[in-house]
Order: sequence, then C-alpha cells, then structure tokens
Amino acid sequence: MKKLTLILTLLSTSLFAQKIDVDKQIALAGQQYQLMLAAQPDTSTTVHSAKQDGTYRNMPSKWWCSGFFPGGLWFLYEKTKDPKWESAARLWTEAVKKEQFNTGTHDLGFMMYDSFGNGLRLTKDPEYKKVLIQSAKSLATRFDPKIGLIKSWNGFKGGYQYPVIIDNMMNLELLFWASRETGDPRFKEIAIIHADNTMKNHFRPDYSSYHVICYDVDGKVLAKKQHQGYQDESTWTRGHAWAMYGYVEMYRNTKDKKYLDFAQKISDFYLNHPNMPADKIPYWDFYAPNIPTEERDASAGAIAASALLELSTYSGEKGKRYYADAVKMLESLSSPAYRAALGENNHFLIKHCVGAKSLNSEIDVPLIYADYYYLEGLLRYQKMAKK
Ligand code: GLY
Repeated sequence: MKKLTLILTLLSTSLFAQKIDVDKQIALAGQQYQLMLAAQPDTSTTVHSAKQDGTYRNMPSKWWCSGFFPGGLWFLYEKTKDPKWESAARLWTEAVKKEQFNTGTHDLGFMMYDSFGNGLRLTKDPEYKKVLIQSAKSLATRFDPKIGLIKSWNGFKGGYQYPVIIDNMMNLELLFWASRETGDPRFKEIAIIHADNTMKNHFRPDYSSYHVICYDVDGKVLAKKQHQGYQDESTWTRGHAWAMYGYVEMYRNTKDKKYLDFAQKISDFYLNHPNMPADKIPYWDFYAPNIPTEERDASAGAIAASALLELSTYSGEKGKRYYADAVKMLESLSSPAYRAALGENNHFLIKHCVGAKSLNSEIDVPLIYADYYYLEGLLRYQKMAKK
C-alpha cells in the first residue's frame, strides 16, 4: 500500500509539477532588464541585438523589431504590477509612436501590437487605442485586392515587385483587433484573404514552408524563394515558427477549423523533423548544410514554444504532445545553454540566435524577439500550469 501511494505521488508530481520556475526566471529577467535600461537610457534608437565585438546593435524605430523591447517590459509589468515597469514600458512604447503612419512596411503588427497592443491590454489607455487604429489603417494600405495579399517588401532581388514573406502572418492580429474595435469588417477581411492565399502558395505538400513568394500584378505566383533560409527549397526555421504562430492566431480569431487543422499540420512538420535536436531548439534552417555543427536559432524555439502552448489548448488529446514539446523548449531556453546569466549577453535574456546566416548577418547573437516570445511563453506556461 505504501509503495502504491509513493508511486501515485511520484506520478502526480511528475505530471502536474511546474517544470520551470517561472517566478525565478521572471525575477532574473527583471534584474537583467534593469541593467539593460541603465545601459540604454536613450530611446532614440531601439534595443535590438548585440554585435560579436560586444557592442550594442540598436536600430531605428522603423525597424521591424522596435515593438519587442517595450513589449517585454509590458510583460514584466503584467507579471509584477510594479509601476517601475509600467514607466519603462510607456517610455519605450512612446519611442515607436510615430510608426503608426508608416505605410512603407508590412511589419506594423510586430511593431505596434507588441508595444501599444500590450500597453492597451494592461492599461486601457485610450491614446494607445487611437495609435493602434491608425496603425491598422496604415497596414491595410499595403493590401492589393486584385492580388489578395499584403505586400511585404517594396521589391526583391530578381526584380520582383510584389514579394510576400511568411513572417507577414504575424501582422494579421492587429487587423482582427481593429475590426473588433472599430466595427469595420474590412480589416479582418484583409487578414482572412491574406492567410488563405498564404496557405495556398507558401507551403509544400509535406507542410514545410517557403520564405518568399513573388507575385505578379494579377496575383499569379512568379517565383518561390528563400531569403533568410539556406536555399529556395529548404525551410527556414524561424519563418516556419512565424507560420505556426500565425495560423494559431487565425484560429483564435475566426474559430474556423481549417486554420486549426493547418496549424497542427505545420506544427507536426516542425516537431517531427528528423533534424530537430533533442532539446527542441532548431538549427537556423532544417536543411542547413553542416548540421550538426550549424548554429541553433533560439528565437525560433521561443516563438514556436509560445505558439504551441496556445495550440495545445485547442487540440484535445493531440494537445498533450504540443504542450510537452513547448515545455521542453522553454526548459531548454531557461537552462544555462541558452539563458544568459545576470550581466552577460549585453543584458538580453536569450543567447544563440540567428538573424540571417544566408546574408552573413546576426549569427549566434542575442535578438530582442527571442526575449519577447520567451517571456510570453513563460507567462502562458504559468497561467496554464496553474489551471
Ligand atoms: N524578418 C523577420 C525575421 O527575421 O524573422
């Protein structure tokens, strides 16, 4: 009897115990970001990465990553309710404000929804709402109804005029929000048409993904290309993680089962890939030529972890696997292999990311979006583990 009780206790502890000490990880993140704020008092450029020589690599607010540092500060405020994080988050959010009028980028979802969107969620500040509505209007200008997609870049090598990248799935959330907020269905219609055409053209029959699809003026596919991945026919792991996250969001916003089914299929491709390492932090491309000596991209792991946690909640029995793999990713990211010790890594939280090895840029460095999705994943995990 004693033996049975012991077995049952061990079983329930291993099934239900929190595998990651979120409070400890968030406390460490707070200490690290206090040092970051002290090192970076000037908000005229945004916190983005660090160079191999140990100096910061900041970028202007029009860079696609400008929303992530304020977003991370908002997560710290959400978790601690400490007003010092609200002040810091407001300051860095303000630094992105002028981008609400930027019609030259498809990345407004990243830039504005992660900064102002989190700020609105946590403070209900009416000024933040105005900024977000304007941002959605600016983003919508990049949608061509004849093509049925939001244009990503204004041109691409080879002379292509209408390139659309898989990352663009991440900007649709802002449009759904804008339709709910304004009552104007146009924003969400754009999001749905974009997601449907991406589903049609951006994936192979095995549910792997292309990075860039180039369209002509009538919406015909001219070319399927790689930019930040290894080759046109390979799969760039961060791009694929954006797709997983994007289709989970599509399901959350529409409750249309076709998006859930698709999010599961592309996630299965990711998790079952033979080149996925045991710690579940992928190489920068599933087909990078020198695996296993290629660099990992911890940012891809952080994005996928957060997406899979949400996907697990919609997936019934199948969700157990998504949850377990997401937790494994967060465990790896929380270990010294990827998690920076206090004062290291230019005060970023996560080490070992790759921006674009194909462009010889940002190889094995910290990247602010890895921090953002890691923090989001930790908070999601804690809420789910408590339930
Ligand atoms: N262009 C977005 C990314 O590098 O993931």
